[in-house]
Amino acid sequence: MSEVLFRAAWASPSNIALVKYWGKYGIQLPSNPSISFTLSECRTESRLELLPKSGEQQIEVFLDGEKKDSFVPKIEKFLQRIAPEFDWLSEFNFRLHTRNTFPHSSGIASSASGMSALALIICDLHEQITGERFSDFHRRASHLARLGSGSACRSLYGGLVSWGEHAAIAGSSQDYGTPFAGNLHPVFQDFQDCILLVHQGTKSVSSTVGHDLMNGHPFAEKRFELAGQNLASLLNILESGDLEAFTQLVESEALMLHGLMMSSIPYFILMKPNTLKIIEKIWDYRKQYGIPVLFTLDAGANVHLLYPSSEKAKVEAWIEAELSGYCENKAYICDQVGKGPFRLNND
Ligand code: DP6
Repeated sequence: MSEVLFRAAWASPSNIALVKYWGKYGIQLPSNPSISFTLSECRTESRLELLPKSGEQQIEVFLDGEKKDSFVPKIEKFLQRIAPEFDWLSEFNFRLHTRNTFPHSSGIASSASGMSALALIICDLHEQITGERFSDFHRRASHLARLGSGSACRSLYGGLVSWGEHAAIAGSSQDYGTPFAGNLHPVFQDFQDCILLVHQGTKSVSSTVGHDLMNGHPFAEKRFELAGQNLASLLNILESGDLEAFTQLVESEALMLHGLMMSSIPYFILMKPNTLKIIEKIWDYRKQYGIPVLFTLDAGANVHLLYPSSEKAKVEAWIEAELSGYCENKAYICDQVGKGPFRLNND
């Protein structure tokens, strides 16, 4: 076994968008601004080892200790994309060990957590190898993560993170994520997200194909404009704590995302019958008990059930009793807003 020359290890969380990124141009630039909650328990933990290289570069990837050759092309593509920024990348062989804290088959996108963890590792290794210190370490990592997967650039900070230029967000950029700098209302500081796993397994449309559907989409221009308006409204809601307005905006964003998929050519329905059953249950429960529970969706059938931590006990009892029956194998994952990535012990 060759000697490990350098190594770095980071854990980075997944995130769930409230205003959705859907549509991109150029090299991973967003067609509209978006914002997400960074999660806590759903994360990727990765360790990259740099080994001596002779001849052609070797890249090995291990998922949960098992060699995964199918992951190599994605990593290779990412490394090629960031190569102009890091001379040393071509000088080593790579061995990447990675694991997700959520089941790989759960249908939860691991690209945001996986790519942000890898981006942090690259920045960490750059500092080790060159002795240079990044004064803007997380911003650099966010920029790199974006080149791997757009939504990954929002996983670099805890709490709420936006991505994409927006007049109401100072320092916002197309290039990297920006942590929410307003006066976040306490109700949102520990908001809960229970992911109801309606359909586990791979999605029928990859996000890259999905984003592409916005090119020439008849509603594209209006959508991009509405996303900007929704983000502006959401910034106020995040400060005021108005849960009714929050509910309406977040649910409408989720349904608009799916509406865009249903109205593109080719068209897709990614919701399953149980997705709709759960949505109806959420609406009934909210109406009947006046408890602020709401949903959002990513580009798949799973439902993210969002609620304030003050309602946790009641809502989780209801999930177990009533909603779990609509989940595949009764599976769901209770998570909440998290603090962002952290460095792991390097062994
Ligand atoms: C629906 O970030 O997975 O989850 O940039 O092609 O990797 P790529 O796409 P990706 O798209 C995420 C889309 C979304 C909405 C969101 O997270 O904002």
